[in-house]
Amino acid sequence: MPATRTQVGIVGAGPAGLLLGQVLANAGIDSVVIEAQSRAYVESRVRAGLMEHDACQQMRDAGVGARMDREGLVHEGIILRFGGTSHRIPLTELSGGRQVRVYGQQEVVKDLIAARLAAGLPLHFEAHGTSITGIDTPRPVIAYRHQGQDHQLECDIVAGCDGFHGISRAAMPADVLKVFERVYPFGWLGILADAAPASHELIYASHDHGFSLLSMRSPTVSRLYLQCAPDEDLSEWPDSRIWDELETRLADDQGFRLTRGPITQKGITPLRSFVAEPLRHGTLFLLGDAAHIVPPTGAKGLNLAFADVHVLGHALIDRYRTGSNAGLDTYSATALRRVWKAERFSWWLTTLMHRFDSHSPFERRMQLAELDYLTTSRAGMTTIAENYVGLPLL
Ligand code: APR
Ligand code: PHB
Repeated sequence: MPATRTQVGIVGAGPAGLLLGQVLANAGIDSVVIEAQSRAYVESRVRAGLMEHDACQQMRDAGVGARMDREGLVHEGIILRFGGTSHRIPLTELSGGRQVRVYGQQEVVKDLIAARLAAGLPLHFEAHGTSITGIDTPRPVIAYRHQGQDHQLECDIVAGCDGFHGISRAAMPADVLKVFERVYPFGWLGILADAAPASHELIYASHDHGFSLLSMRSPTVSRLYLQCAPDEDLSEWPDSRIWDELETRLADDQGFRLTRGPITQKGITPLRSFVAEPLRHGTLFLLGDAAHIVPPTGAKGLNLAFADVHVLGHALIDRYRTGSNAGLDTYSATALRRVWKAERFSWWLTTLMHRFDSHSPFERRMQLAELDYLTTSRAGMTTIAENYVGLPLL
């Protein structure tokens, strides 16, 4: 069976695995990335697309920020809409000048893949990781299947960046791993449409029918979401019904109208909060969705994956430059502190903005009163702004 050796074996070529590979390469540390899916598949998978201030800087620092800076859309505020009225949260003004950027996750992935392949660094697509062994030793091994052949990759460190359904978290000993989870009684129906966004800024709307969100990918492409049942049947949602429902939920007292256009992609995402602890056992480290999931309301998924890379990247650079394991030893505790704060914000915003069938009229009034308070208090708006643009990476 073919066996290779590397310093850091990376399972998964999503944002976490690819950015980690790039950061390590820039520091002269070898890695091999294996990815179960094809390049075309990972480059076309439509996901969220809002990058925090520091996440944009991480792309630049890694040498892959040029297209993001050219094509990404800078945002300095968001709109909260409820009771038919709009309230702008001036993110940049309230966060000491920080901005966010709309840039699709698959664009981030494309840029990172292009950089890795241009540098001739190993990235194997359709290479399905089957097991991770020896994590209690300094020579863990990733077994994978590629082009009908079994391979072994021997590493110093395994970075588990293989998402929620990957093999890395499952490789942690069951008696070590604790999981914390909340499954919400709803999902999001998301669409991409060839239609100019009807607002320059994102609109988060709380309506008696349920939550909806107006976002975008470019000046000609809209990305919109509707709260729906977690097991909603997409076949019951012809395009006209989706547009009508979006228009109802996004309506305001100024005669807001959506720009309609051909829907090019539709999908349903269930909403979940999930954290696994710890993020490290022996020589195996978990990053990104492999370790934690947030509901998309706060747009934190990609940004959390990047923040994990920041912490582990520095720890690995330290280890290879100075021999010190201090950063590796504190990776889990350091990353988790920030993870839990982003989990809190995502859970809070989700709970504030969505319709819960279990809510009494009193609880609905509490949501509206809280929204009214938040959008009329500088302190309230500031707490939204500083979380939305992203808490400090460390
Ligand atoms: N072997 C190799 N690759 C695997 C395996 C396996 N056994 N299992 C999963 N993978 C791959 C998946 O195909 C996927 O491309 O790991 C990758 C994980 O990527 P993501 O799911 O994008 O996770 P991550 O890099 O942590 O990024 C988190 O993704 O889901 C969104 O909202 C989330 O924005 C967040 C981001
Ligand atoms: C998106 O554009 O996909 C998006 C933006 C903001 C969110 C969630 C998703 O909160």
